[in-house]
Amino acid sequence: MKANPGGVIDPGNVYGRDQLIAQLWGRLEQQSVLMNAERRIGKTSVLRKMAHDGASGWFPTMIDVEKFHSAEEFARGVFDQVQTYLGKWKKAANLARDLYEQHDFGGIRRTGAPRPWKALLTAAIHDLATQMHEQRLVFLWDELPYMIDHIRQADGGRAALEVLDTLRSLRQEHPGIRMVFSGSIGLHHVLEGARDGKISSEPVNDMYAVEVPPLDIEDAIRLAGDLIQGEGLGVKDLRGSAEVVVKEADGFPFYIHHIVAGLKRKQRAAEPDQIRMVVQDHLVDANDPWDLGHYRSRIPIYYPKGNNAQIASLILDALATDQEPRSVADLQAAINASSAVLEDRSELVRILRLMERDHYLLRQTDGRIQFRFPLIRRWWALDRGL
Ligand SMILES: Nc1ncnc2c1ncn2[C@@H]1O[C@H](COP(=O)(O)OP(=O)(O)OP(=O)(O)O)[C@@H](O)[C@H]1O
Ligand SMILES: [Mg+2]
Repeated sequence: MKANPGGVIDPGNVYGRDQLIAQLWGRLEQQSVLMNAERRIGKTSVLRKMAHDGASGWFPTMIDVEKFHSAEEFARGVFDQVQTYLGKWKKAANLARDLYEQHDFGGIRRTGAPRPWKALLTAAIHDLATQMHEQRLVFLWDELPYMIDHIRQADGGRAALEVLDTLRSLRQEHPGIRMVFSGSIGLHHVLEGARDGKISSEPVNDMYAVEVPPLDIEDAIRLAGDLIQGEGLGVKDLRGSAEVVVKEADGFPFYIHHIVAGLKRKQRAAEPDQIRMVVQDHLVDANDPWDLGHYRSRIPIYYPKGNNAQIASLILDALATDQEPRSVADLQAAINASSAVLEDRSELVRILRLMERDHYLLRQTDGRIQFRFPLIRRWWALDRGL
């Protein structure tokens, strides 16, 4: 197999994830799932594998919903997908098609009045659900938080929440249907923006939150080894080198692909010192080929309140220079030693919790805190010149 960092990979080339996928199918027996995890960790690949080999008794259907910018576009997207299935199964009669034609959803909107997207979405899902005889329907919706945020920007917070509320009603109305919402930005950020402190909607509290971790170590080693061989890199001890790649990549399949692609591009052998050099080069490269600057640029967007973004950066600074986890009191002292004003300890605790939810930080059982991913810690320290 050739390295393909960030490309669409064939479900057959999705390494590991079998246990996670089995867990997801098991959970779906009971309820719908909210799949949130760090960007580039392999969420889409998990969904693609689920869509490709659905568990017995399930009918999975996947859409990348990021492309929809309004509730109407989303409803039409679901409608189109349902039509494709119904067409394939030669089922012509259906509720949604009538609505679609009646309200000319396919044409250009002439009046300012919105078309009844909710009715179309509900009817399309109803149409598909009624065709499921032996199987149960599961919608795999990738990048749903982005879509909800797009809708908030285009149509306002109320419309964004209405989409989530409609989906919740559909889950209640059709107890056999399941949904998986996946995305790297936490839905909590999007919900907060949509509610704007005015609406207290809880549209996903019936869903089960699942986090996608890095690859299991043996799967990651197998991936790294196969890529090293697939790219024909020189190597003395394949397993030893694959282990170094995996350690440097924190088990992220995306960075494993990148490291091997980097070795190939620079025509280096897959030897430990060369591997480390490639990683170091990438971490300091001004062009930021791994797009790590994202971890910095999203801070003010994630923590817009008061000086929270500044506090978040100081927390990361304090944790970046030392591999040892630090206590809350330690972090408080580090912030107080700077010019930033920290209201009180509970403000710090609140920010720390948010940063945990956003995968920056990891809390140990003894309450001490560290970076969630060592690779990001290394990059942060280099980037900030610490
Ligand atoms: N299980 C896997 N086996 C092999 N390669 C993988 C696997 N998962 C991810 N990858 C590699 O990592 C890249 C990113 O994976 P994927 O697109 O699934 O991540 P993601 O979490 O959906 O990312 P994003 O946050 O950008 O949406 C893929 O293009 C592929 O190169
Ligand atoms: Mg993805």
